[in-house]
Amino acid sequence: MAKPTKEMENLFKEQTMLTKKQKFCVYLATASKDGVPNVVPIGGSRLLDNETIVIPDNYLNKTKKNIEENPKAAIVVTDEEKHDGYQFKGEIKIEYSGPIFEDTEKFMRDFCKAAGIDPPILPRGAAVFTIEEIYAIKPGEEAGKRLI
Ligand SMILES: Cc1cc2nc3c(=O)[nH]c(=O)nc-3n(C[C@H](O)[C@H](O)[C@H](O)COP(=O)(O)O)c2cc1C
Repeated sequence: MAKPTKEMENLFKEQTMLTKKQKFCVYLATASKDGVPNVVPIGGSRLLDNETIVIPDNYLNKTKKNIEENPKAAIVVTDEEKHDGYQFKGEIKIEYSGPIFEDTEKFMRDFCKAAGIDPPILPRGAAVFTIEEIYAIKPGEEAGKRLI
């Protein structure tokens, strides 16, 4: 497991500010069992705790198929103003019931309410990503270096 820093935590919070206009997405990369890559923008990701990023499965399609056959995934979050961000690598699975799924449903209800989306978009599942490695992506000498 790899524990994100306070800066990393803040980036995830900014990304899904419930009361303001959403600032940016994170990007989730998966691959099929044969290694065919797929990357999608995600607006609703959250850092749940020190080792978990949760993504509401509202529309995941090829991504979902990939997750079912290959749990390896990567996520990138960027701060475009500061030209900074982080790359996370780990394993992902989709949960369809239980506390994380229920929490994700509540998150989507709150998110849609704040954004004026009625009826709310409700998740079919919660994609749970366990962070194993964290890398720098900031341009410069440290780009690509493992941080944690
Ligand atoms: C700005 C933006 C935000 C998105 N946020 C989410 C999200 O939070 N959850 C989700 O399931 N899909 C989200 N999507 C849709 C996915 O990016 C994508 O369309 C979906 O996973 C289907 O692509 P796939 O077949 O490659 O999986 C978002 C798309 C955009 C453009």
